[in-house]
Amino acid sequence: MSHKVTLIPGDGIGPEVMNATVRILEATGVKFDWETFAVGAEAFEKSGEYIPKDLIESLERTHVGLKGPVTTPVGGGFPSINVALRKRFELYANFRPIRNLPHIPTRYPDVDLIIVRENTEGLYSGLEHEVVPGVVESLKIITEKASTRIAKFAFEYARKNNRKKIHCIHKANIMKLSDGLFLRCTRNVAKDYPEITYGEHIVDNTCMQLVMNPYQYDMLVMENLYGDILSDLCAAFVGGLGFVPSANLGDDCAVFEAVHGSAPDIAGKNVANPTALLRSALLMVRHLGEHAASTQIRNALERVYRHPEKLTRDIGGKSGTSEFADAVIDEMQSSKAEPAPV
Ligand code: NAI
Repeated sequence: MSHKVTLIPGDGIGPEVMNATVRILEATGVKFDWETFAVGAEAFEKSGEYIPKDLIESLERTHVGLKGPVTTPVGGGFPSINVALRKRFELYANFRPIRNLPHIPTRYPDVDLIIVRENTEGLYSGLEHEVVPGVVESLKIITEKASTRIAKFAFEYARKNNRKKIHCIHKANIMKLSDGLFLRCTRNVAKDYPEITYGEHIVDNTCMQLVMNPYQYDMLVMENLYGDILSDLCAAFVGGLGFVPSANLGDDCAVFEAVHGSAPDIAGKNVANPTALLRSALLMVRHLGEHAASTQIRNALERVYRHPEKLTRDIGGKSGTSEFADAVIDEMQSSKAEPAPV
């Protein structure tokens, strides 16, 4: 059986890290039927649309997407492709596991933290307008429906995956109505999961607590903008944005993507690190039910990380993007050749 997947390589370093990732995925022997699309400025040049209709139809068909980074203009131009896809397909849960890879020196070893971020509303939606020249209004919409839905997602995940503790992160001391509603909804959901320890922390305190001692947390659930900021902060625990995967999950569709951007400063040089996209692809492979392939790649990746010279230059190695992919594939093949343990 072949898995149909909508592939969005993106721009900047996107096509390079995507090419490396696809080669590694295909080396597992799992069959993929890729439907590939450009988005953003490149798509606009070709079709007059930033998100081509064909891409939307493809995602409606495949229900699964793997996406590289896309350059988003600052302070004008077209709106974020990510935000548009999240809204169009109701990808309401942004799921970011934060785990160390072996042999990457960081301040905190053995971090195992999960951030669940509400993905469809809050300040991050960018609902803004100019009231009069010099005065801008930005709307923070929080609804009972979306807040309850994300809380249920987090608690269900915790129950199914044996996680012990969830903290709701908020600023309800100041935004009493909006964050107050988010908090009340999460509290209500928490009552149905007595086996999971539930806590609440204010977002600014959480930043300090995380930096002091990230091990005090297990899973964090929060609205969109806090999730955007805290997930980057937490990426630093495991070596930075080059290592952190993410999944945007809805009831009917899922899009997997790295959290880093299109890195125009290093695009086209075969130096980008594909690890974050590869780890996002691993979440996708598990979502598709291919658990053995996911374990095979994860083990090979961890073995490559034991050899500093095989890593990309951002982490002190000597390899280019494609040589790094070769190294992972070599590890996968050599482990296949090893006799099975008796
Ligand atoms: P960035 O993540 O692209 O780059 C920040 C720094 O990290 C740069 O020095 C870059 O070289 C480095 N870097 C990033 N990914 C790397 C990788 N895989 N390997 C090695 N080094 C890597 O962030 P920046 O510069 O703020 O954004 C550039 C563009 O990307 C912007 O247009 C932004 O809107 C867009 N962006 C897109 C995202 C997406 O599509 N998911 C997410 C974040 C930003």
